[in-house]
Amino acid sequence: MDVKAPKGTADILPPDSEDWRRVVEKGTALFRTYGYREIMLPVMEHTEVFARGIGQGTDIVQKEMFTFTDKGGRSLTLRPEATAGVARAFIQHRLDAAGLPVKLYYRGPMFRHERPQAGRYRQFRQLGVELIGSPYPAADAEVIVLCAGFFSGLEIETDLAINSVGDDECRPAYVEALRKYLGRHEGKLCGDCRRRAVENPLRVLDCKVEGCAEVIAAAPTIEDYLCGPCREHQGELEDLLRAVSLPFRRDGRLVRGLDYYTRTVFEFQDPKLGGQNALAAGGRYDNLVKELGGKPTPATGFSIGMERVMLAGPRQEGRSEDGVFVVAIGETARGKAFLTAQGLRGAGIRADLDHLRRSPKAQMREADRGGFAFSVIIGEDELAGGYYTLRNMSAATQERVEEAELLETLRRRLDESGA
Ligand code: HAM
Repeated sequence: MDVKAPKGTADILPPDSEDWRRVVEKGTALFRTYGYREIMLPVMEHTEVFARGIGQGTDIVQKEMFTFTDKGGRSLTLRPEATAGVARAFIQHRLDAAGLPVKLYYRGPMFRHERPQAGRYRQFRQLGVELIGSPYPAADAEVIVLCAGFFSGLEIETDLAINSVGDDECRPAYVEALRKYLGRHEGKLCGDCRRRAVENPLRVLDCKVEGCAEVIAAAPTIEDYLCGPCREHQGELEDLLRAVSLPFRRDGRLVRGLDYYTRTVFEFQDPKLGGQNALAAGGRYDNLVKELGGKPTPATGFSIGMERVMLAGPRQEGRSEDGVFVVAIGETARGKAFLTAQGLRGAGIRADLDHLRRSPKAQMREADRGGFAFSVIIGEDELAGGYYTLRNMSAATQERVEEAELLETLRRRLDESGA
């Protein structure tokens, strides 16, 4: 049997998982202060949701989906992203009935069959928000500012790149111009891009192959093709970002790898990793809900790649020691230790005890290893006298605490020690 996790997947073990949890909790708390509420989605959808939502001509749909046929003969896919699933749920549960906008956030694993490398995995985790129902630039500005707040709260430096990919009015002319241009430079394009140049020219702009990059550098940009309303939308968004002093860079070649975008697209990039490593990305998708069978409903949002965030080194609030380890000296004390630990847990205090019948010395070592701030020692004297010995692990000081006062004293001591 192969005891390794599948290629491109990873286990996140303690204590790292504690750092992850803190970052996720901080992020989701921030989302809630902006009025977003959590939606919990299935990790698989009918394949069509992604094929129609993300777009047939995208790399994600063409090459990267984990698709399988279930026992009923239906084609299902592990979600490569969550926006299409959110839109599907929005339609299915008529979430517009209670009024717009609907503001949702989600977290969880996504699956893409990509070639694994640093920051790119087959199973990765995203945190994301979607603001559904507003066509206005202030909605784009809100999600962008929120995403920026997530990174500044973790003291992670990012570069914000934004662009407009136009709408149904103006994009077709740009796509045609791009197709013609690419046709003239076909010889320099990679095999994939030769196909993309015909089927979905915008996707060529994402290609990182050297020869293609050269062609892309001189390609027409969408800026020159934007219609009046798209230009106005972009101008208002930029004004709002300037009003809150959020620096950004306009990147006319930023198009993103998903077809559902209209007008605003953006990426928060890690300046240390160069232009192509996005820690978070998103944009406006005014046609997605309609595309999946709902009423036309404008929307905007973003997703944060948690693995990349953790690689970027978020500031951690110091792993403080907390809780209590209950040490039993002698066989007779074990029952009491079990009950004491239970009582503390019931009162909401992190408490643990020895499960391997170890010596008192080994139990003390265990208390140290587990990062406990205190230990409660129960020996023969304590049992006979109806008290506990409370030990401050880092100060190595001990005090006698009457049984009835344990909880109160511990709370006070934990408070004093900042745990
Ligand atoms: P995306 O650009 O495909 O957009 O992914 C968003 C973020 O997820 C990326 O910036 C990156 O940090 C992370 N990510 C993507 N693929 C991988 C991978 N293979 N391994 C590790 N991290 C990865 C979306 O998913 C859209 N749903 C964003 C959105 C929300 N647009 C509107 N609303």
